[in-house]
Amino acid sequence: MTTRLPDAALHAAPSHVRHAALKQWVAEFAALAQPASIVWCDGSEEEAQRLSNQMVSAGQLIRLNPALRPNSFLARSDASDVARVEDRTFICTQRREDAGPTNNWEAPAAMKLRLNDLFAGSMRGRTLYVVAFSMGPLGSPISQLGVELTDSPYVVLSMRIMTRMGRPALEALGESGHFVRCLHSVGAPLREGAVDVAWPCNPTKYISHFPETREIWSFGSGYGGNALLGKKCFALRIASSMAREEGWLAEHMLILGVENPAGEKTYVAAAFPSACGKTNLAMLVPPPAFAGWKVTTIGDDIAWIKPDAQGQLRAINPEAGFFGVAPGTGYATNPNAMATLGANVLFTNTALTDDGDVWWEGMTDAPPAHLRDWTGEDWTPGCGRKAAHPNARFTTPAAQCPSIDPQWEDPAGVPISAFVFGGRRADCMPLITQARDWRTGVYLGATLGSETTAAAVGKIGVVRRDPFAMLPFCGYHMGDYFQHWLDIGERLPRAPQIFCVNWFRRDEQDRFIWPGFGDNMRALAWIVERARGRSNARESILGWAPTWDDIRHDGLALTRETFASLTELDREAWLRELDAHAEWFAQIGERLPNTLALEWERLAKAWAR
Ligand code: GTP
Ligand code: SPV
Ligand code: MN
Repeated sequence: MTTRLPDAALHAAPSHVRHAALKQWVAEFAALAQPASIVWCDGSEEEAQRLSNQMVSAGQLIRLNPALRPNSFLARSDASDVARVEDRTFICTQRREDAGPTNNWEAPAAMKLRLNDLFAGSMRGRTLYVVAFSMGPLGSPISQLGVELTDSPYVVLSMRIMTRMGRPALEALGESGHFVRCLHSVGAPLREGAVDVAWPCNPTKYISHFPETREIWSFGSGYGGNALLGKKCFALRIASSMAREEGWLAEHMLILGVENPAGEKTYVAAAFPSACGKTNLAMLVPPPAFAGWKVTTIGDDIAWIKPDAQGQLRAINPEAGFFGVAPGTGYATNPNAMATLGANVLFTNTALTDDGDVWWEGMTDAPPAHLRDWTGEDWTPGCGRKAAHPNARFTTPAAQCPSIDPQWEDPAGVPISAFVFGGRRADCMPLITQARDWRTGVYLGATLGSETTAAAVGKIGVVRRDPFAMLPFCGYHMGDYFQHWLDIGERLPRAPQIFCVNWFRRDEQDRFIWPGFGDNMRALAWIVERARGRSNARESILGWAPTWDDIRHDGLALTRETFASLTELDREAWLRELDAHAEWFAQIGERLPNTLALEWERLAKAWAR
């Protein structure tokens, strides 16, 4: 293979870029991928306008009706590129065992050889965009810089919303600042004069991570976590590996604040697997029974958490926007999200209304009489198809959220008083539990189970272990990750309380029993009160649970008996669950912390009594 070095004009960086290694890296990658041009993104409004106009002209974006949804667009992806691809995601460490049994592994050199072949000429006929970005507020000691080289203008527009992108990040890099190197190509070179498709991508996909050199190489997909490399690839997989080395946590968690009527503020970080309610909980609107209470939003997907000098855990949201699941987000279930979507939004795979707006299942009670579905086909109610793809998403600036916390960009982060873990479980796991201590809490996180959702390609609705909601996002051995959590707790003078929730228990008719959404405030209020050492509970083998009288239940559409059964641990179901835990721990193998094996024994014996 011959690589043609692009001429000087092609790869000339703007004069304010002073980072020689960055310029060198861009030139070298351009020589391999052979783009027709290179654009160093500045992150400006004009640049975004130019790119979106260009994509509208090329039929790659639909401009929504500006009277209804100003400065907003709809993208329709290829039907084969609609979600994360976990079976194409790799952690490439020198030693296989460092990636652990839950990650796909390949030796770094072998993977790079293969990807070099795929990247060669992969940007022909396209523009290479240089996207410098900061994860976290620029200048925060917790923040990190990255640069993504991509041939997707959709990725550029998305990264502009999801991160602090462009000139300020380039300037922060200075002459020699460290940055995570992120390579991305949709893998669809354009022949000269050829007409582009609406969503270029490649059937061959690799989402590869090199934690030891802090690099990401992504090929073939333009969608979400596969392509917006600041998000899952950097802020979770690479960052979790950095965090382990440096003594902090990079987690798949929302961060919210709860303010009680006395003005006391408590911050909570909560891990739920993909499409299991983080965005909804982060933006919760309390029901009328909670007059004077307020919930504020710091983040809806990722938390970077570090102990400060006093040993208090402090968290930042490394992102600047929300890439949220559209279906199920509605005026009734999440009014704050709906208000966040008023303008400047990039929608992907939602339906299009006849007046040029978007719609999806669950946005309103009654569907419009006619739509274009996510593939562009005619759609009418009762036609038997979903109008929006189940993993249709909105990309919107966090600053537009009415419930955004005044401290959401505080470089010091907010103090975390409680962790919450929750899966999507039709049975067994109780509505709410407080772990009796850190160790039991880590056990509950490590054994978290959840039904799979449309957020990843594959079978939907099967229960799998998704420890700490990090199964697809941990950049190293899961056993070491559990040990890291145990170690962190041990070092803290006052470790946060740990809770488990399950909003998703279903009855014989397959209906959700717990009303959820705003009513989750009843659980959340109990959590923050317990974290402060207040409010009552009954003991359980896992720790504590609230009785009917321990929660605020006025206005709750549930009987005392149903509540009791939701918070109860069913003996048979729990014994089956313990068997599943044992199987799961066996899969983790030798690096399973002994502490967790002992905790399993304690729980198994506790029940036998
Ligand atoms: P990712 O962005 O994929 O990491 O997911 P997320 O956890 O932010 O997911 P999100 O909050 O967008 O959850 C989406 C799905 O969860 C939608 O189908 C919602 O209807 C559903 N959901 C959220 N909260 C509740 C709840 O309290 N009860 C029930 N039954 N469903 C809920
Ligand atoms: C998730 O799947 O957990 C997401 C969406 O938050 S994506 O960015 O596509 O990973
Ligand atoms: Mn997520």
